[in-house]
Amino acid sequence: MAARLVIEGGVPLRGAVSASSAKNAALPALAATLLTAEPVVLENLPALADVTTISRLIEQLGAEFAVERDGATRVRVARVKSHEAPYELVSTMRASVLVLGPLLARTGVARVALPGGCAIGLRPIDLHLKGLRRLGADIGIENGYVEARASRLKGCRISLDLVTVTGTENLMMAAALAEGTTVIENAAREPEVVDLARLLQAMGATIEGAGTERIEIVGAAELGGCRHRIIPDRIETGTLLVAGAITGGDVTVTNAVPRHLGALLAKLEEAGAVLDVGENRIRCRGPERPRPTDVITSPFPGFPTDMQAQLMTLLGLAEGLSRITETIFENRFMHAAELNRMGARIEIDGAMALVRGVPHYQGAPVMATDLRASASLVLAGLAARGRTEVSRVYHLDRGYERLEAKLQSLGARVGRLA
Ligand code: EPZ
Repeated sequence: MAARLVIEGGVPLRGAVSASSAKNAALPALAATLLTAEPVVLENLPALADVTTISRLIEQLGAEFAVERDGATRVRVARVKSHEAPYELVSTMRASVLVLGPLLARTGVARVALPGGCAIGLRPIDLHLKGLRRLGADIGIENGYVEARASRLKGCRISLDLVTVTGTENLMMAAALAEGTTVIENAAREPEVVDLARLLQAMGATIEGAGTERIEIVGAAELGGCRHRIIPDRIETGTLLVAGAITGGDVTVTNAVPRHLGALLAKLEEAGAVLDVGENRIRCRGPERPRPTDVITSPFPGFPTDMQAQLMTLLGLAEGLSRITETIFENRFMHAAELNRMGARIEIDGAMALVRGVPHYQGAPVMATDLRASASLVLAGLAARGRTEVSRVYHLDRGYERLEAKLQSLGARVGRLA
């Protein structure tokens, strides 16, 4: 049986814990190392399964890894030795598609397996491909692979039909080595996009407007190496704050960036949590019982879809009805059925979840279905009466570094059974 977490609920969490660096900034940063033959030093890569997966992928493409004395990771793609991102890797992690733009820009050739759907939705990459075609690439789809070729990408104006985080990142990386200037309109504004732009600028790229809906990239003939520190993980930070709120505890997350979490902090306060927000730390004291509120997920700076499951878990204990609307993915309510098995009263109606708060959850054996759903089940277990077993925690390990150790340091009774 795969590893599972066992939680004895009902303990108010107290204390301070530091957030790790962001998975969704580390993944594009590792892909960006393909853009130069010089070494790129990433100071604080998080120890996550997804980071291991993309590291293995770029190693197959030619990256050499070394660990520096201070623990930083040195990545160098002196020579690209393969142009193919194989299905067996891409199918385990769709963010592998982030190698497409840099590989094509660096070598003019890329063969990347089309990512299949995943638990939370179809998640096509049509906008990535449409943007690369605009940059002058020939893109074909054969046998489940994207076959891309381009002698030299040419800068242009790209207007994205939808806000896409990795689509913006892929196109920004491709444009960094294109001839001339590229403007990406309707670009994603997520902090992870801004962090990638910061890394590309340190490599010598000229980029304006990252963090706004219009990003301008002036292509360079080549890019160089640099040293880069990855931003803290705002979703892990939010998850730990909800852990404090849902157990009626008092949790401070250090190494946090409050401006990356504005929408979540507002919802936590609407739900009755008392927050103290410092320069790089956020303290959350939980209410006796949460108050209901309504949530609509949307691209940054709106409420992040990656926090929807965690907030649903908190609102599942509120005194009244909350309505949660998921606008980003078409199937991101799978945690609701598991929460209902713990006593929640959640009804799904298309893109909306109606959450009728209950006084408490009962511990139960539950199963994780995707990364953020697994976090929401852990949160429910922390608040529940009795014992909860969360199976398939490999989902959790993709995006949370040593989560149970962090929760234990806050007093949680949680352990991992292999
Ligand atoms: C990124 O995924 C994140 N992953 C996701 O985090 C996050 O949930 C998502 O952005 C939304 O914020 C990484 O950064 C590695 P999108 P991404 O392209 O880029 C549709 C987690 O838990 N779309 O912004 O794949 C798509 O189907 C993960 O850490 C197209 O239709 O998401 C979705 O409905 C889960 N065509 C919407 O846009 C495209 O070409 C937003 O997707 C691209 C996207």
